[in-house]
Amino acid sequence: MVKTFKIEPSTARIVDKSTLLKVLNYIDSGVVRTPSLVVNGERVSRNFNLLGSRIRNSRVFYAVKANPSVEVLRLIEGLGGGFEISSDGELRVLAQLGINPDRIISSNPVKTIAFIKQAADYGIRCYSFDSRPEIDKLARYCFGCSVYVRLSIPNEGSEWPLSKKFGVEIDEALQLLLEAKGRGLNPCGITFHVGSQCNNIYNWDIALDKARLLYTRAQEAGIALSLLNIGGGYPVKYTRDVLGIDTIERHIDALIRERFADEIEVFIEPGRVVIGDAGIIVASVTGKADRLDGKWLYIDVGVFNGLMESVGGIRYTYVVETTPDTGPLKDWILAGPSCDSFDVIDRNVSLAEPQVGDLLLILSAGAYTTSYASEFNGCTIPDTVIV
Ligand SMILES: Cc1ncc(COP(=O)(O)O)c(C=O)c1O
Repeated sequence: MVKTFKIEPSTARIVDKSTLLKVLNYIDSGVVRTPSLVVNGERVSRNFNLLGSRIRNSRVFYAVKANPSVEVLRLIEGLGGGFEISSDGELRVLAQLGINPDRIISSNPVKTIAFIKQAADYGIRCYSFDSRPEIDKLARYCFGCSVYVRLSIPNEGSEWPLSKKFGVEIDEALQLLLEAKGRGLNPCGITFHVGSQCNNIYNWDIALDKARLLYTRAQEAGIALSLLNIGGGYPVKYTRDVLGIDTIERHIDALIRERFADEIEVFIEPGRVVIGDAGIIVASVTGKADRLDGKWLYIDVGVFNGLMESVGGIRYTYVVETTPDTGPLKDWILAGPSCDSFDVIDRNVSLAEPQVGDLLLILSAGAYTTSYASEFNGCTIPDTVIV
């Protein structure tokens, strides 16, 4: 039976029409199993091709952690993209696909020795760092490799801040670059991350101001840096409009031109924006209950098997299946399939009342969903399907 969904105008603004149509056609084909992550490959390609197009002398490295499914990696490999990885597991997948090491970098500032050894064997020569023990490891297991130091910068306005775990201030960064040189590494540049889902364009201003200071001080100390790795952070639409790739990149490009030599090479490591809005999770309603605190709606994907970011504050847009008898909107507490009370995805979700067995779509769910997912409690991780 053909499924119907009522797309409100506010919802239509969140997702592009072709992604929605492709997913609805896929559902109509009758082969969909839930939960699945259905990805519009053309949208991934469009996003990827736009990236870097406004920043001179730039190369794009897809942050594999956003969605490491082989189908997605193949797509990006076919577009000639580079890859940013953090672990031996991510390296293994790229190695299986035969990706050339020149197309791979690692910007995890603290890597395991096992990973460094394997990456060095594979031929990867570009790494980030922000501590002395990391210099020790890289000097020992990947002598002569190129390294870029991770600066700490404010992450205000980013829905997924990343600044607490990594990054050093300018004085320490300079010391580390000098020490790296003294240990036989090639200190080539600076990196930072404005925070994921960053909708505050001024974070890039602050970051590039700091990077410029460090760049000048390094030059004065006899180190000529040639690389600026601006990390990721570009946002996607979850429930509201966000800065577009074009706006962000024109701004960044102008900032870089004002502050750095023309020859500086720029690396970009986007994850979320490549795949986020290209994917829709198709889930099923598994149960409903009226409880003291409200109306609960249970679905077959939750915090543990795909929607982990909802715990950190990402709010998705949902669409439920409708019938001619569908009633008015109601407020729901939306919960996942595990028998665990942590598995609550969102509260105050306004949806028409579905029936058990109906489908529920979760928009902009391509990034940081399946890559975070576990099979806790035996719950199924959504399969990724490219359409
Ligand atoms: C070092 C590094 N680069 C790139 C990314 C990708 O960031 P985003 O998905 O926000 O574009 C991350 C995300 O955690 C990261 O840690």
